[in-house]
Amino acid sequence: MLIASLKPRTMGGTTNTGLLAYALARAGRPVTCYDADESLQLTAWARDASDFPCRVHEADTPAFAETIYPAMDHSRINLVDAGHAENHPDIVDSVLEVADLAIVTLSPTTADYDRLTRPERGTPLAKLVRRSAALRPSGQPPATVVLLNRCQAGAASPKKYADLLANGGKNGTDPAWTVLSTRIPRREAIASAVGFPCDKPERKAPYDALVTELVHLGHLPEAQR
Ligand SMILES: Nc1ncnc2c1ncn2[C@@H]1O[C@H](COP(=O)(O)OP(=O)(O)OP(=O)(O)O)[C@@H](O)[C@H]1O
Ligand SMILES: [Mg+2]
Repeated sequence: MLIASLKPRTMGGTTNTGLLAYALARAGRPVTCYDADESLQLTAWARDASDFPCRVHEADTPAFAETIYPAMDHSRINLVDAGHAENHPDIVDSVLEVADLAIVTLSPTTADYDRLTRPERGTPLAKLVRRSAALRPSGQPPATVVLLNRCQAGAASPKKYADLLANGGKNGTDPAWTVLSTRIPRREAIASAVGFPCDKPERKAPYDALVTELVHLGHLPEAQR
């Protein structure tokens, strides 16, 4: 299967992609990563961290569906880190054409919510997801979930933005999103995760919970015993 890690702009996407890869490997899942962001930070993370759990293939191409996807081992969990959807909609279109699940990283702030739902420039991510349906054999877009990150403990903002996203905005007229109940906390140990080993409990627990929730929702196959 293929999981796409998406975001409109810088939102913690690579952090979430890499730490999810570690969590999948901890759960005994065969995982392979693809780096579809031209900044190649996930690629560099795998090079620099001695314990990175899998290979990362460079894949920053708008021909992702035609040239990268067919060569994947589809029995594995393939995880692709995409760059800014605002700046590289062509690559994100191609990833959405073949992804089984899209995880959108978002911080619970007005600035990030606005960039997801009504960017001043660029195509809203919801529109990229919707239009992918036309290119997919099923005629349906991939299952898409929002993962809130940089959530401050005890703050009201995660619930506020989760409700706005789930309800289609204040007036209910915007696209509605499925928001995961797993929330990635704002933590220094997570802020400094990219490029380094996953050797701190704060880098593990939220992502183990994410894997559990994805299994529970039916987005990941049950683990084989
Ligand atoms: N849970 C977190 N708590 C605190 N800071 C975080 C957390 N997750 C990410 N960050 C910080 O957010 C910033 C962006 O993270 P990251 O590089 O993963 O985002 P990105 O969306 O991949 O960005 P890019 O646009 O470069 O691809 C970094 O400074 C990182 O330290
Ligand atoms: Mg990144």
